Amino acid sequence: MDRSVHNKGTYHIETWGCQMNVHDSEKLSGSMEREGYLRAAGPDGADVVLLNTCSIREKASEKVFSELGRLRKLKDRNPDMILGVCGCVGQQEGAEIFRRAPFVDLVIGPRSTASLPALMERVRQGETDVSLRVDTEYRRDSIDFPYDQIRREGEAAGKAFVTVIEGCNHRCTFCIVPRTRGKEVCRGMDDILAEVGQLADRGVLEVEFLGQTVNAYRDDRGNGLAELLVATSRIDGIERIRFTTSHPAQMTERLMDAMAEAGPRVVPFLHLPVQSGSSSVLKDMRRGYDRGTYLAKVAALRERIPGICLGTDIIVGFPTESDVDFRETLSLMEEVRFHSCYSFTYSPRPGTASEAFHDGVGPEEKQARLHELQLVQKGIQERLHASWVGRTVEVLVEGASKSDASRMTGRTPESRIVNFTGNAVIGRMAPILVESSSAYALLGRKIEPEA
Ligand code: 5AD
Repeated sequence: MDRSVHNKGTYHIETWGCQMNVHDSEKLSGSMEREGYLRAAGPDGADVVLLNTCSIREKASEKVFSELGRLRKLKDRNPDMILGVCGCVGQQEGAEIFRRAPFVDLVIGPRSTASLPALMERVRQGETDVSLRVDTEYRRDSIDFPYDQIRREGEAAGKAFVTVIEGCNHRCTFCIVPRTRGKEVCRGMDDILAEVGQLADRGVLEVEFLGQTVNAYRDDRGNGLAELLVATSRIDGIERIRFTTSHPAQMTERLMDAMAEAGPRVVPFLHLPVQSGSSSVLKDMRRGYDRGTYLAKVAALRERIPGICLGTDIIVGFPTESDVDFRETLSLMEEVRFHSCYSFTYSPRPGTASEAFHDGVGPEEKQARLHELQLVQKGIQERLHASWVGRTVEVLVEGASKSDASRMTGRTPESRIVNFTGNAVIGRMAPILVESSSAYALLGRKIEPEA
């Protein structure tokens, strides 16, 4: 990074939402630092404050406006502070944000990452025309971002995100993502491999390929995720390869074979959002698969990659979900036994097809279903994790445990959180004997080499 740039002040970025957003913030931070800004300790006193927002559910979206209300006070104290809204709420609301929150200085969409410095310059020049302070074009800025300028937060812990595809061509009836992130665009495989090679040279052990529908990846030369996984597994130094999020309809046998062929460096964990266990709800969601096809994919994965662990996302209380449909979701969970599950009550989003559906599930019923589902999942995780006790696992060490400062924490290849005693080096692998477990984590101690 060019350190000779004149120091322009400090910046602070608040990030909500998915890994894509977290990684976009790493790119925004990189741009800011290249422009000569330094990271602030927090929003208080920062010269530039950016909110990198999420609009997947209404709650996430509304949180932005309450946070803006809070930041307004900082701006009252420091009128020169530049306040920007980035990410999916920026995309969705566009110039409308200036109406609801006129003290905001600039708005950019998630794909216009590289336009941040130019917009900021306009604000600094005193530009007041609203249309000049918003950029919500579906550009390639974010995907083509110069990777050596990304400020990577996970690097000290040996991990890095790598974008391979952005956008989504599916049309799930509940989902706002195609509107906020646009159609799919892919990076060339050579460019991705060059980035991974550079990360490996810097000591990164784990890469996570990112895309809203990562398994839709296909570059101009016809390389898909299958080819990318096999090629990445040959890069010296990279010990773990993750990818998220996969769409079940595109989880092809070719890709499953490649996961097996690439060997254990491709981790035996897959996040495969099912959304519902009812074929009729899946149809109304326009997911492109039914219960049977999903279960067949799970069986095919388990056949090829013994011991693979699965994670999922589930929406309860979709407008057409009956109690019987909901029970089918519970039974699918018992059948698959997911190691992790993010679950949500359905939230209508502007401009989606399901916004117009008659919602037959009241808010209390939605909450009751969510509660029941989470209890079922907790029981499943408790039982699954209990079967890990006595095993020795390899974790990539992340740092001190958040829940217990006397322990360190790391993850297994299967993405299990392990809190452990003993000294280990952050960003390196360590062998841990699992001694006990809960629904959410494994507990253990580091195995010390014989003296
Ligand atoms: N309401 C509730 N949950 C949603 N998700 C996506 N859209 C909605 C919505 N409108 C959930 C899905 C998705 C996860 C990222 O968020 O489960 O996989």
